[in-house]
Amino acid sequence: METFHKLPEHVAIIMDGNGRWANEKGLPRIAGHKAGVETVREIVKTSLEVGVPILTLYAFSQENWKRPKEEVDLLMELLNFFIDKEVKSLVKEGVRLKAIGRIDALPPYTLKKLKEAIELTRHNRKLTLNLALNYGSRAEILDAVRGLLTDRVNPEEVSEELFTSRLYTAGIPDPDLLIRTSGEMRLSNFLLWQLSYSEIYITKKYWPDFTKEDYLEALAEYQKRERRFGDVCGKKEVAG
Ligand code: IPE
Ligand code: IPE
Ligand code: MG
Repeated sequence: METFHKLPEHVAIIMDGNGRWANEKGLPRIAGHKAGVETVREIVKTSLEVGVPILTLYAFSQENWKRPKEEVDLLMELLNFFIDKEVKSLVKEGVRLKAIGRIDALPPYTLKKLKEAIELTRHNRKLTLNLALNYGSRAEILDAVRGLLTDRVNPEEVSEELFTSRLYTAGIPDPDLLIRTSGEMRLSNFLLWQLSYSEIYITKKYWPDFTKEDYLEALAEYQKRERRFGDVCGKKEVAG
């Protein structure tokens, strides 16, 4: 397995293109989502192999509720299926499952499964697999603001650190690398605060076609990036 001298500590992925993948094959959209689950497995496995410690996957956005009910229902079923099938190997492989988003609004059965898996894997430390579910970045920011107001925090005390600690991602460092598949050049309400200084890698490949090699290529590309965080070029990295 390839080794990287500069490995991102946190990779975030907008897994996009399942529907188009299926359309082009004359298949129903859900076939694309099913194929996408296989890619998730492969990317989790590769993250463990190369030693990426945190992987955040955008699995269902708050805006995705707009989709036809049949598609939403099937996406939730796929999530149940994924958890059921994978939880044992997550425990075995040292993967800690986490979720970000307004997860309490997920269907009760899905929420129960998710919470059980989070509980079962909570001591694992090799890889944190963070699923963004019913996630919206603006909602996350508003929830943080509401929390601060409810706790009557003194405006003077509201620092970047404090605000960060009120987000769903509290305790998780910002992504170093954002990957988006299927070529769209947008964030789609994903981690707006946390991606401020992340390196962005966009590939035209649809998510079900995104392979281990494609992931390694993204990691290799990350090696070449010089992160400046606003400083002048050529300096040793001081943050991230
Ligand atoms: C990403 O694929 C999966 C989810 C958003 C759940 P899409 O379903 O968005 O696929 P396209 O963008 O329609 O091809
Ligand atoms: C973003 O993809 C959400 C997920 C990958 C879960 P979308 O397909 O929903 O984004 P838009 O609508 O193309 O911006
Ligand atoms: Mg899409």
